[in-house]
Order: sequence, then structure tokens, then C-alpha cells
Amino acid sequence: MLDKIKKLLEEINALSATTPEEAEALRIKYLSKKGEITALMTDFRSVPAELKKEVGMRINELKNRAAERINELKAAAAIKEDTDDELDLSRTAYPLHLGSRHPLSLVKNEIVDIFSRLGFTLAEGPEVEDDWHVYSSLNFADDHPARDMQDTFFVEAHPDIILRSHTSSVQARVMETTQPPIRVICPGRVYRNEAVSARAHCFFHQIEGLYIDKNVSFQDLKQVMLIFAQELFGPETQIRLRPSFFPFTEPSAEMDVSCTICGGKGCSMCKGSGWLEILGCGMVDPAVLESNGIDSSVYSGYAFGMGIERIANLKYQVRDLRMFSENDKRFLEEFTSAY
Ligand code: DAH
Repeated sequence: MLDKIKKLLEEINALSATTPEEAEALRIKYLSKKGEITALMTDFRSVPAELKKEVGMRINELKNRAAERINELKAAAAIKEDTDDELDLSRTAYPLHLGSRHPLSLVKNEIVDIFSRLGFTLAEGPEVEDDWHVYSSLNFADDHPARDMQDTFFVEAHPDIILRSHTSSVQARVMETTQPPIRVICPGRVYRNEAVSARAHCFFHQIEGLYIDKNVSFQDLKQVMLIFAQELFGPETQIRLRPSFFPFTEPSAEMDVSCTICGGKGCSMCKGSGWLEILGCGMVDPAVLESNGIDSSVYSGYAFGMGIERIANLKYQVRDLRMFSENDKRFLEEFTSAY
């Protein structure tokens, strides 16, 4: 009996299998109910009493070893099977499929990069805001139409809590916690109560800029805006500033860039005018500085704000605003080569 066990042990140690099925056949051969090792148990009954202890131990060892060996063979065969079919030594080490950046992130990053080079740092604020930071501290009169329910989303049951309708709220937050010099750029999502269409959406993205120091003048604003426009749209780009009105800047202006398609000659993109409007800007109203704890007799500053979708439309000619938020892979994959 002991000889038989020894022989089986040698046999087990020498087993091999190339597929998981072969390994399973070995398990059946040795360890199933009718297997060779199980059969030893029947012979065990006729072993003389004085040898039972020793023989029992050897059978157990054999059983354990067989189970271990067959499991090893099974695992090795499974790995081999997995890699055999697909083993392609010419493949690159990291065949990772990376996603692409969203076009709005591409444009936002580009704008933030330009202003970083001009010394602006990033600032962010909450999307769920209070009336003070979105409107009151920025000099909006109590009856200003932007405060209307038609334009602003209110958080129900809290008339003072709203979804910010512009990133100018971040200006207010920066001013209340920082003394000049301040030079920040504030990208973020904003919300307006608009019916969704190809040309309007109930949420979109803006970038706000704020510069406050001693002796900041309109000339500084104009020069920085020109550099920005030429960095973003190319060195030939011209700008023009048209007088406008915003409650938080005085004087205020709207800025146009020479048409990115026709260069100013007039085309369908610029509706024949040669100019495209891209942002609002102006000198921070002294009343806004004072509301936010900055001494307007010492400091002055400029601010500007632009829509990221608007600029992305100019760069990529996306005709329907809804494309930006629908996550259609065919659209998003058009931007895979850019970053
Ligand atoms: N907050 C304005 C808007 O949403 C944009 C804007 C205009 C921001 C002029 C400014 C500015 O900082 O000076 O339409």
C-alpha cells in the first residue's frame, strides 16, 4: 500500500496540462468519487491496524498534494489561454485609450493660460450664491431686471439664495477677503432662466477678470485686452471698444475683435460688419470697491467678463449651443487631437 502511495505521489508531481480542460480531466482521474486516490480509501479498510495511522497520514498528504498540483496546473493553463490569443509583441507599452478634453475646457484652459502669463492667478467661488455677492455688492439697483425671476434661478424657500447668473460674483468674494493688489481670473458655470435653444441655454460658462491696484487706468485695460485678443485669435487681431453699461463698472465697454474668419472685410460670420463682440469690461465702479471694503480714494481697477461658449463658437464654429452639454461622442471625439 505504501508503495502504491509513493508511486502515485511521483506521478502527481510529474503531471502537466496545457489547457484548463486537461487539468480538469486530471482532477477527475485522481480526486473525483471514482478517482484513483479516492479508491485508496477502500483499500485502506484492509490495512492492518498497526499500520493504519501511518498509511492514513500518507494518503492525506497525497490527496492534499494532488489537489494543490492540479490547481496550480489549472491556474497556469488559464493564464496561458488568456494571453496566447492576444500576445502581440509589437504593441506599445501603454495602449491606454485616453479621452479627449471637452471643447469648453480647451478654450477655458487657453484663456486662463494667457492671463496666467500676464500675472493673473485663479480664483473660484460657489455656484449657489447669495443675492449680496451676485447683485447688491456689485451695485445692482433693487429693481434691476436681472434680479427678476425671469432671469435668475432662486433656491426655493430661500429668496436670498440663488444660482449665480454671472461670474462677477467671484470678484465680490475676492475683494471682500483680499486687499489690493488683486489680479485674478475666475472661470466657472453660471445659470440663467432661459428657454433652451440653439442660441441660449439655462447654464453656460464665463470667465471673469479683475485687476485692482494703485493708478490702474483704462489704458491698462485696453492694452491687456489687445494682448489677450492677439494671443487667442492671432497677432493680426484688432480690437475695438464700444461704450456700454454695466452696474459694476464705470465707464463700461463692450469689446469686439476683428472677424476671425474674414479678418475685418465682412462675411456671414460677422454679418458684414467685420467685427465680433466677445466681452464686456470697464473700470470697477468706486461704489463697488467701497461695498467690498476697498478704499476707492487709494485704489482703482478694471474688470472684464466673457462667455466661454461664445469664444468656443468663434474658434470651432459650433452652431448649436446644446452640443456642448449633450455629450455626443461624435462631437467630443472631434477634439481628441487638441489639448
Ligand atoms: N457680468 C457680465 C455679464 O454676465 C459680464 C461682465 C461685463 C463682467 C463687464 C465684467 C465687466 O467684469 O466689467 O454679462
